[in-house]
Amino acid sequence: MESHNASNLLKAQSHIWNHMCNFINSMSLKCVVDLGIPDIIHNYEKPMPLSVLISSLPIHPSKIPCIYRLMRIMTHLGFFSKDNVTENELEIEYMLTDESILLLKDHPMSVTPFLQVVLDPIVANPWHNLSTWLKNDDPTTFETTHGMLIWDYAAREPKFNNLFNDAMASDARLVTSVVIEKCKGVFNGLESLVDVGGGTGTMAKALAKTFPMMECNVFDLPHVVDGLQGSDNLNYVGGDMFKNIPPADAILLKWILHDWNDDECVKILKNCKDAIAKKGKKGKVIIIDMVMEKEKGNNETLGTQLFFDMLMMVLATGKERTKKEWVNLISSSGFSDYKITPVLGLRSVIEIYP
Ligand SMILES: C[S@@+](CC[C@H](N)C(=O)[O-])C[C@H]1O[C@@H](n2cnc3c(N)ncnc32)[C@H](O)[C@@H]1O
Repeated sequence: MESHNASNLLKAQSHIWNHMCNFINSMSLKCVVDLGIPDIIHNYEKPMPLSVLISSLPIHPSKIPCIYRLMRIMTHLGFFSKDNVTENELEIEYMLTDESILLLKDHPMSVTPFLQVVLDPIVANPWHNLSTWLKNDDPTTFETTHGMLIWDYAAREPKFNNLFNDAMASDARLVTSVVIEKCKGVFNGLESLVDVGGGTGTMAKALAKTFPMMECNVFDLPHVVDGLQGSDNLNYVGGDMFKNIPPADAILLKWILHDWNDDECVKILKNCKDAIAKKGKKGKVIIIDMVMEKEKGNNETLGTQLFFDMLMMVLATGKERTKKEWVNLISSSGFSDYKITPVLGLRSVIEIYP
């Protein structure tokens, strides 16, 4: 083998090893969160020596040397920074970074519940069946693994239902704060709104508070909303968006359409159109979802969007859509105009009008 070829092959081998081992990043991150390390460092209120961190952890004495190695990879990945770097590992001091601040359990925008559901074995195991699923006619890899759609699984398993709903609520907190700060105008003048697939109502509650004259309904499957208490201008309604959606000036669809294939989305959007028409005003549907970057776009953004597209393939029947795919969907559902506002990082606010 020529030396040039050999060095290319070694580079290729290292590339494969990196991708083969990517799950180690995810699982080490999960371990750090399970052990509560971000909270322990945060509560210490100054850079925390490894020796003190170790003594704060509920670990077996035989595992003490492993914590340095866990912190080393997590620091390498940007989840912690270090100070007082000495030969003596036990004296190295660890601090939080922006990324680990978002992992604090009580941070209002914490992403920990979302991380816990994505890496839970119920959601992670279907990945082992992706190639099997591609050879059968099951609608989702989740169904190949668990024998039912994710929504039915949530309806049957209260523990998973809570885990999933908490994950969605944590995302909604972050998105809502940006939407209210940057896109208040989207909701101005609306007298009523239904948050379809609105989960346990995090976004609708914040909207109802910000716009006290707007009547808000959170509409979701009965196992999600049963027993939840509304307030003055907020109500919970159980139902199926494929059958009927309560009338309103505006319908909110946050992280809904990416769960479903084009035919299913057209059905949902047509039901939204009927719900708006019943109010007799022009009305609109407000979609919060990703618009896929062009393939030559920002590499990191595109990479994250590709991950979510695959997540939707494995967990649900949906996908992430390019602008062209959104425009097709909007016109196939009988809507005549749209406005895309890319204010939410990886996601956009897409307003569509009948
Ligand atoms: C990805 S979650 C989004 C939750 C929420 N909109 C958010 O972004 O935080 C999808 C939601 O759609 C709901 N859903 C699924 N099928 C539904 C149906 N047929 N009718 C109404 N809601 C449904 C699920 O229960 C879940 O709460």
